[in-house]
Amino acid sequence: MSTWALRVERYRDDLVDAVTQVYGASSRPTLIPRLLGAAERAFAARSADLRELDERRLLRPDWLQQPDMVGYAAYTERFAGTLSDVADRVGHLRELGVTYLHLMPLLAPRPGDNDGGYAVADYRRVRPDLGTTDDLAALAVTLRASGISLVVDLVLNHVAREHEWARAAAAGDAHHRDYFLTFPDRDEPDRYSATLPEVFPDFAPGNFTFDTEMNRWVWTTFHSWQWDLNWANPDVLVEFAEIIFFLANLGVEVVRLDAIAFLWKRMGTDCQNQPEVHAITQILRALTHMVAPAVAFKAEAIVGPAQLVAYLGVGRHDGRISDLAYHNSLMVQIWSMIACADTGLAAHALGSLPPTPATGTWICYVRCHDDIGWAIDDADAAAVGLDGAAHRRFLSDWYSGEFPESPAAGLVFQANPRTGDRRISGTAAALTGLQTATDDASVDAALGRMFLIHAIIYGWGGIPVIWSGDELGTPNDAHWAAEPGHADDNRWAHRPRLDPARLALRDDTTTVPGRVFAGLRHLGRIRSSLPHLHARVPSEIAWADGPVLVTLRRAPLGPMICVYNVSARTVSFPVEVITGHGFARPWDVISDRAVTADADGLLWLTPYAAWWVIETAQNPA
Ligand code: GLC
Repeated sequence: MSTWALRVERYRDDLVDAVTQVYGASSRPTLIPRLLGAAERAFAARSADLRELDERRLLRPDWLQQPDMVGYAAYTERFAGTLSDVADRVGHLRELGVTYLHLMPLLAPRPGDNDGGYAVADYRRVRPDLGTTDDLAALAVTLRASGISLVVDLVLNHVAREHEWARAAAAGDAHHRDYFLTFPDRDEPDRYSATLPEVFPDFAPGNFTFDTEMNRWVWTTFHSWQWDLNWANPDVLVEFAEIIFFLANLGVEVVRLDAIAFLWKRMGTDCQNQPEVHAITQILRALTHMVAPAVAFKAEAIVGPAQLVAYLGVGRHDGRISDLAYHNSLMVQIWSMIACADTGLAAHALGSLPPTPATGTWICYVRCHDDIGWAIDDADAAAVGLDGAAHRRFLSDWYSGEFPESPAAGLVFQANPRTGDRRISGTAAALTGLQTATDDASVDAALGRMFLIHAIIYGWGGIPVIWSGDELGTPNDAHWAAEPGHADDNRWAHRPRLDPARLALRDDTTTVPGRVFAGLRHLGRIRSSLPHLHARVPSEIAWADGPVLVTLRRAPLGPMICVYNVSARTVSFPVEVITGHGFARPWDVISDRAVTADADGLLWLTPYAAWWVIETAQNPA
């Protein structure tokens, strides 16, 4: 059998099942051959280099789960300049141990404000100021030669109203009108709106926009100029399958499925996390694996803890949808722990998540290009005696610096008086208080928090992803509002340009940038030598008391325990918490020291201490 025939044989059932689930059995006779035809053409066009990469990945299907994975995310122009200039930054990335580079939306967007590139006008063209598709392909080759996989966004919930499909729809072309969700009057929009939340209540209230050209209402979940696509139309599916093949054949290795939760709309619901979303992902993944098995999917679903795990494939979708998903709950709980110097809520919430599918891998991050929304479940809060709404209010107060004792300097994003929600923008330095720290003691404390939060994401077992600038302790960009189109959107405050002055200090450990950089580099180096951090093993909550959180990884090689003190106090906990898991001579690989109890059997943790403990005999050093 040919490779193509083998792959079709392998993935056909996944494809047919999911097509049937979304588009019905009657769609199969036409839709399946259309999809397979497009996939076969893309398979035939795949270059020899990329076919070799496919073979490599097939030989190591758990490549994304390896402990040496470290991610980095940035806007191309803010990080380097053009796509070709990124090559000059490879050295910096390698010093940090980076193996995965997410370059923010780089396909041609609408002119003017475009939501940081998330309003795409042409999926087959690169942003002209960044370069061309040839430059993108060349960059993928350069990165791969240094062991770095290129991650690129695919915006598939909406297109810019300037996209040719939207232009054709507005001009009255019935075929393209059916690519969108449009309505002659407010009847259906009002009925949907009864249960729809608002994503940008501040600058884009509501979920529908009246288009004067078309004389109809258009579904616009995000901005008025981002038109939601009608995924119930199989033509939309075929278009996006082909766009994914196009990106795959340019050398993109991970496709970030932007705002994937919103793809399917259902009356009477919040129109997020609908079952069809997962089935659509399964269709796209089955086809992508036929064309380019090296390519992985990453789900960007910033949803509550109860919905999150489904994005890594549970039930019928186990192992069949996204390989990666953002661990939004971990991110939120990290900030919550630091603000209240307590681990109770985090231990409960993280400890009660359903098990992670063994083939799924979390993207572990302390923050990204977006704001932080306090996705804290009311039931989780109640279980530990907290009021969910009050705690979310506290977190907004803390991270905006409004709370009297808080050193944080975040900005309030999208305050919603109706729900009381206030999301937060800010770099890691702004949120940990590093930005406002003036004396040695407060700088030390803030650096302690910076190191701790990164130790948690590096030690969780997924792929830790650093947002550009955080490795140098970069503060909020004071001039974020000055750039055209940015003034309404303070997320730009935490998307600073890589500062050459800070970069130059990265090896000077007497400076703040140097101290942050050394910390992250250290974590990356240790991580890559620890088989215990292979992502197929989940992190379990082993123990939590006050400011101390202890996680356990039952790795094949032996257990690994991570201990974190989320407070500015020196605290103790009983040594049995560690020895109870079968350790004879526990060793902390972060400080490279034996873990020894005092005469009372207590272990002492300095402020913001982070320990990764393994058995001495397994010490990779
Ligand atoms: C995702 C992006 C965010 C963008 C939205 C709409 O959530 O991360 O920046 O505004 O999708 O595309």
